[in-house]
Amino acid sequence: RAVFHPSEDGDAVEIDVPEGWTLMEGARQEAIEGIVADCGGGAICGTCHVRVRKEWFDKIPEPEPSEAALLTIVPEVGECSRLACQIPMEPELDGIEVDIPSSQL
Ligand code: FES
Repeated sequence: RAVFHPSEDGDAVEIDVPEGWTLMEGARQEAIEGIVADCGGGAICGTCHVRVRKEWFDKIPEPEPSEAALLTIVPEVGECSRLACQIPMEPELDGIEVDIPSSQL
């Protein structure tokens, strides 16, 4: 499971993300607004940017250099920003909560 919170007033959406899928793939499957994922998971478009809630952020492995570089230029970057396409679903991430930047909505 993963919970997406629109940064604006919209309701949170909870979805199932199969283990091994990325958070982005789960969001696309469920047509979550704000996760466009133009590049299909290549860590080059930045349209799958999410801000991970602090309690979950530390459970995610460190970003690859390509993700880290992109995260310096996406709009509304925060200290817990990640690319949803670079977060594979694992048992310890079950229930992860992320915020979708308002510029993507
Ligand atoms: Fe393009 Fe994640 S889908 S950076």
